[in-house]
Order: sequence, then C-alpha cells, then structure tokens
Amino acid sequence: MLDLFSQPAPDSAIQRVSELTKLIDHYNYEYYMNDTSLVSDFEFDALLRELIDLERQYPELSLPTSPSRRVGGEVNKTFAQVQHRFPMLSLGNTYSIEEIEDFEARTRKLLDGIPFTYTCELKYDGVAIGLTYKHGQLVQAVTRGNGAVGDDITANARTIPTIPLRLQGQYPDDFEARGEVVYPFDAFEAMNRQRQADGDEPFANPRNAASGSLKLQNSAECAKRKLMFCMYFMMLPHDQEQALPSTHFGRLESAKQMGFKVQPYIKECKDINDIKAFIDYWDHERWNLPFGIDGVVIKVNQTDLWDQLGMTAKSPRWAIAYKFKAEQVSTPLLEITYQVGRTGIVTPVANMQPVWLGGTTVRRATLNNADFMEKLDIHQGDYLLVEKGGEIIPKIVGVDINQRQPGALPLQYTTVCPECGTQLVRAEGEAGYYCPNSDGCLPQLLGHLEHFVGRKAMDIDSLGSERLRMLYDAGLVRNVADLFYLQRAQLVGLESLSAEGQRVTIQEKGADNILRALHDAQQVPFERVLFALGIRYVGEVGAKKLARHFGNIDALMAASVEELATVEDVGEVTARAIFDYFANPDHRLVVERLRQAGLNMQVVDSRVSDNLAGLTFVVSGVFNHYSRDEIKATIEQHGGKVSSSISSKTTYLLAGEKVGPEKLKKAEKLGVILLFEAEFEEKIKKQ
Ligand code: IVH
Repeated sequence: MLDLFSQPAPDSAIQRVSELTKLIDHYNYEYYMNDTSLVSDFEFDALLRELIDLERQYPELSLPTSPSRRVGGEVNKTFAQVQHRFPMLSLGNTYSIEEIEDFEARTRKLLDGIPFTYTCELKYDGVAIGLTYKHGQLVQAVTRGNGAVGDDITANARTIPTIPLRLQGQYPDDFEARGEVVYPFDAFEAMNRQRQADGDEPFANPRNAASGSLKLQNSAECAKRKLMFCMYFMMLPHDQEQALPSTHFGRLESAKQMGFKVQPYIKECKDINDIKAFIDYWDHERWNLPFGIDGVVIKVNQTDLWDQLGMTAKSPRWAIAYKFKAEQVSTPLLEITYQVGRTGIVTPVANMQPVWLGGTTVRRATLNNADFMEKLDIHQGDYLLVEKGGEIIPKIVGVDINQRQPGALPLQYTTVCPECGTQLVRAEGEAGYYCPNSDGCLPQLLGHLEHFVGRKAMDIDSLGSERLRMLYDAGLVRNVADLFYLQRAQLVGLESLSAEGQRVTIQEKGADNILRALHDAQQVPFERVLFALGIRYVGEVGAKKLARHFGNIDALMAASVEELATVEDVGEVTARAIFDYFANPDHRLVVERLRQAGLNMQVVDSRVSDNLAGLTFVVSGVFNHYSRDEIKATIEQHGGKVSSSISSKTTYLLAGEKVGPEKLKKAEKLGVILLFEAEFEEKIKKQ
C-alpha cells in the first residue's frame, strides 16, 4: 500500500537514517541523562532536520522509536482506554514515623530471621505511568487511571526525552517500566509565566501541570513542556524474573544501563535508624531538589521476598510510603492590602513579616476573599499560620490565637476599591466583593484591553501589556475602540519605563507595525470580535454560539434576556450579563466605533457549494495544493464534515502523500474508500 506514494529507499538512505538515529540518540542520552552537551544546538537541529527529511521522503524508514518522534505532531482527540496487564497498585502511606517503625518491625517479624535490607527512595510528586517495552522498544505508555484501566498516552510519552524509545545493553524481552512523570520547577514556572502572558489560566502546581500535559491532544505541544520521567519500578511476568538482578537496588541499576533516568537519591538501608535518617534528611533537603517530592518510599530490597510478604487488600506488604507533612510557620501580619483583578474581583492579601518556609522567603499570601477573612477572624497584629505543601504557593491556614495581643481589634474587609475609590458590591451568593466600575477602574480597563488584543480574541500581538499601559498613560486610549483611531504621529516617540526599568520608545517601524496589526484586525471573524468585547461570562465557545444564533451584532443587541437564554449553553446569568452590557450606552458607542473602524460585526458565510454535503472525511498525509488546515477548511466550505479518526461513519479517507499506515489499515478494515487529492478536486469543482 505504502509503495503507492513513494519510491523504495535506496541503501544510502537506509544507512544514513541508521547513522543519524544512533548519533541523535547518543547526543540526547548524554544531554538528558548525564547533563553533557556534545554538540551545539545548531548542529543537533541540523542532524534532526536531516533525519526528519529522510523519513518524510522514505516513510518506510520512519520507525516509532525514531528520535524524530520526540518532536511530536501526532494528534489524538481522545485517548484510548487500555487495560493494564499488571494492575497499577498503590502503596500504603502514612504521615507518622511510628507507623514506619511498625512497618519495619512487622516486616522483620514476617521474615523471621531471613537476612534482608531496605531501599529508601524519593516519592516523586507527579503522575504515575507504565511503559511497555517489547524486544527493547517502547510500544505503549499508559497512565495509572483507576489502577486497572488507564489512558493510552504513547504519542505524548515519546516526546519526553528521559523516556528511552529503544533500550541499550541487556533487557528483558517483554516488561513494563513504571515511574512518575514530573514537571521540574524551573520549566513549570517558565511555562506558567508564558500561560499568564497568553491570558491562559496558570496551573496550580507541577503535578496538575504534568497531568494536563500528558493529556494534550497534540503531542508537539507536549514536547514543549519539558517533562521528566523518573523510573522507580519494573514489572515482568514471574517466569522472566531471573533476567533481572534479585534486588530492587540492582534492578534500578540495570534500568540505568538500559537508558532509563533513575534518580541517584536512593539508598540501601539496613535498619529503622537508617530509614529515619533518610526521612529526616529529605524532609529538609527536598526544597533543594529541581522537582517536587511528597515523601519517601521504603521497599524491601530483596525481590524474592516480595511474594513471601504478599499483599494486603490494596497494596503490597513489602513497601510503604512516608508522606511529608506540609511545613508550617507562624509569622506576624503587618498589613492587609487589596488587589483588583481584571474582572474587578477584589482580593485581600496578607503582608507578613518575612519568614523562611520550604526553601523560599514568604512575605505575602492571599486571604482569598471576604468570607475567608471572616472565618479566620483576623485581628490587628495577629500571627498567621502559613503552610507550604505540595503547592509552591504558600497558604494561610489559620491564626495563632495564643499570640493575639490583648485588646487587638478585629480587621474589617475594605468597603471601597483601592484603585478607584468606588463603593464595592457583593453579588448574591458570592464569597467576595468586586468593583463595579469596570470601564473606569485602571486594572479592569487594562485587563479589558489585554483581553481584547489577546491571542484568542483579536490577536494583535504588537500590542502587549506594556504598550497598552503606555497608550493609557499618554491619555490616548480609554476603551478598546480608541485603539482603532490612533494616529501614526501620536505613536512615534511615545516613551515609557519597562518593568526592568529601561526606557522604551516606539520608533517609526514599531508604530507602523501597530497600525498594520490594527488594520489586519478587520479580518478577524465576528465570533472572535464578540469574544474580544469581554462581556462577563461570554467565553470563546459562548461567543461562537451567540454569533451563529444571531448572525450579527444588531440582532444580538436587540435581544431580550429570555431570547438570549434560548441559545445553547447560555444560562440565565450570562443572558442577563449580555443584556446589561448592551444596555449601557457607552458600550453601544464602543460597538459603533469598532464597526466604523471596519471590524466584522456579522457572520460571513463561507460556504462555497454543497458538493460534499452529508460526507465525512478523515484527512491524512501531505497534499500538493493545500496545507492540512486548508484542505480541512475546503471540505467544510463545500458542506463536508471533517473527523479526526476513522470509524464506520467515515465516507472517505482523503489520502495525501505519506498517508498514515495505521489510518490506511483501519480504512481497509472498515471498507472506507480512499480518495486522492486529484479526485477530491474533481468533486469540489462539479456544478
Ligand atoms: S513504588 C507496587 N516508588 O506513589 C508499588 N511509587 O501509592 C509501586 N510513587 O502513585 C510503587 N514515587 O506512582 C513507588 N519511588 C517510588 C515512587 C512511587 C512516587 C507514587 C506511585 C503511586 C504512589 C504510591
């Protein structure tokens, strides 16, 4: 089948692909396992590019274990559910040293004089996955799920550099490597900064971020996430156990030889004193690690004793996890300040006497909202109890009543906006207050502007938050419509101080870029213009549905609350918010001025013909006249539907060059017709 589309690979290509694969694997290994850079980024990229090009030219040479897979690109809309061959058990865990002592004494008693030792290792705070290797090749990666069934995340796992795609040296023929995918702190923080800059919600902690990353639909996105795999365990059928050393310590050593990343922080311990010393050490030292841990795991080292110790209902008796308690300190409150968010929500912040906690100095922590403050019943000069657990952000968990000064007065939540002085309001049933001056209160106004130019809204990337602030400070912009009436002469020479304290000036070229980007905004479809307006509760999806339902802004502005609430996914509260937004004459003026500036205020029907009505396509491969997105858009413009995976509902597999072999196989199995580019073009041309 594949030969339909390409010439067989010549020997020279086969040999070069093999050479490149070995070289790149070697450089990757040294870089990620041994922190050694053997070539420049430039040279490395050139080798990888050469490999990718050869694999494109000769798809039969593109193996699932090729280092080119690390770049990702495979898209999975849903993740197949996979039954674990060996259930993924959890460990008994405890926060108490006494229970660790009990575990140790019980184990010794059960083993009744047989000599044995323990291994102590870190309990990585991430997402557990199982990797199946057959004949030394990674064939499947599955999340823990409920322990019996998990999600197939193989494409995403392949992008993680510390997961070997092919093993080295000696290895069992068929086994599963288990471990934890963690998000190292520095990469996590960089990613969250980027998310905030893009207007996306930041992740609460590295564990959630690791989990979210493994579930990304596009593996190329996962490749950017810089995840790390820490291997901690090997599962294999009983009859193959002799292929491995008979201690857990030895097995992890041999895993290292196979190419897995095994953290060096593992210690063989002979008794409870050794174990306690290990726990104590890491309880303090954990803050100096480049990734998060939430405890220590203690295992009987001799694997042949595991069967003898057996299982409880849920977990093995040969291992236990000790979990670290969140660190807690008490420090005096100096002052409560209030922060106004982009949506007007006013958040109280406790400013405290600086205190060392979990590896950083803590000065400020959120008091969340009025309800939370009331519950804590904070008084002047109170000592606050601050905790840092798995989260990086410190949390206020209480007040140290014993240290309260006699006669100290309770602190009240503010009644006015700290930014604009407006009386705050509290929506019924909400935990906090907000400032209703949404068009005049500075953080809210800047928030609107930033939202408006954001990637998912008008996508005007030459206007970042610094430049918007500059325009505001210069008195040029007070609402989103003002942006479209800026004159070149007003922009050139505008100055401000950057966050780093440097003077920034808009030059002629910068001004032209801004004006061009604003002009290009005329191409943005109505649904995104609607989303960009920033109406409370109207998200991307809601805006799309409203745009489709009403077709243009005039019909939307004329709609009653009842009518708005008939739109799919628009509830009573959102309907009321939309109605109130357009009831404000200032907002109507903004809309008029945006319309005058040429922005789309109605849905443009992009339908060209009905030639493909009722047909469902799956697209695969590379096309001569279209990019992948273009061909999908063309299908839709002619009334067809595009789906990402082949099923009995698929009419055609639209196959370009290098069509995916899996897709071909499935199409054949289900009797889905193959359609080539030229035939497709005939179909859409027909009158
Ligand atoms: S051993 C049969 N070792 O902690 C038990 N688990 O309940 C195999 N974890 O979600 C697990 N670090 O993913 C083991 N060094 C380590 C670990 C570890 C983290 C996780 C594991 C599971 C939980 C144990």
